[in-house]
Amino acid sequence: MSANAVEIQDLKKVYSASGKTGKETHALKGVSLTIPQGEFFALLGPNGAGKSTLISILAGLTSKTSGTVKVNGISMDENPDEVKKSIGLVPQEFNFSIFEKVIDIVIDQAGYYGITRSEAMPVAEKLLQDLGLWEKRNEKSQALSGGMKRRLMIARGLIHQPKIILLDEPTAGVDVELRRGMWEFLNRVNGEGTTIVLTTHYLEEAEQLSRHIAIINKGVVAVDEGTKELLARNEGKKLEDIFLEIIDANNEPNV
Ligand SMILES: Nc1ncnc2c1ncn2[C@@H]1O[C@H](COP(=O)(O)OP(=O)(O)OP(=O)(O)O)[C@@H](O)[C@H]1O
Ligand SMILES: [Mg+2]
Repeated sequence: MSANAVEIQDLKKVYSASGKTGKETHALKGVSLTIPQGEFFALLGPNGAGKSTLISILAGLTSKTSGTVKVNGISMDENPDEVKKSIGLVPQEFNFSIFEKVIDIVIDQAGYYGITRSEAMPVAEKLLQDLGLWEKRNEKSQALSGGMKRRLMIARGLIHQPKIILLDEPTAGVDVELRRGMWEFLNRVNGEGTTIVLTTHYLEEAEQLSRHIAIINKGVVAVDEGTKELLARNEGKKLEDIFLEIIDANNEPNV
């Protein structure tokens, strides 16, 4: 049997003390999660729960304090470059140059993976077409609306055709109609075999899209269960109610 897409064991992240408080932050306190290949996995949790920290560690952008991470059976410590190749990241914050053209933002990203411009172009065209941005390809990214910028981030994250894509709040601030379009797109990508890890504060979105839900709260996994099973076990309740009960059980505000 082939390896899981992601295996995380006892992952801890402590951010060192900074600023006025002088206190370190224990953002992840021993997280263990297994994500099979082809899964559509929703990673939920309140503000400050540790979702972006986890995603950033998986993407190789943030160092972990301890624990192990394997991607497609490959240890992140032993072969970080190989792991990076199989992961695409759509970060929470826009982080492209506002002066660069849409097409260049996508194509230049391919260069980081050693993919030439001519190899990347057909992939970029398909992605930008599918995401409704092809007409905008020669515009500077500053000319895009917020929703278009979100879609540009998705196109950029997929340009090297990764096996796993990590999407950190990809639909934040996106209108209802556009969000539905993005759901369709993500379902199609997942249907083609790409493993998806999605964080979102729109719980309806997680309910509609994901087949598995993990809820983290204060750096600890509180729920790790199939979406159907979680909803069936809490018969009649909406995911939002289930979520709030779990978070409340941990009282104290998070931020
Ligand atoms: N670079 C950093 N330096 C210090 N502390 C950080 C850093 N990044 C995150 N943290 C802290 O780690 C904790 C987890 O933050 P993280 O961004 O992972 O949460 P999140 O679940 O993504 O929240 P949100 O839903 O608001 O995006 C928070 O207490 C946050 O303040
Ligand atoms: Mg976050």
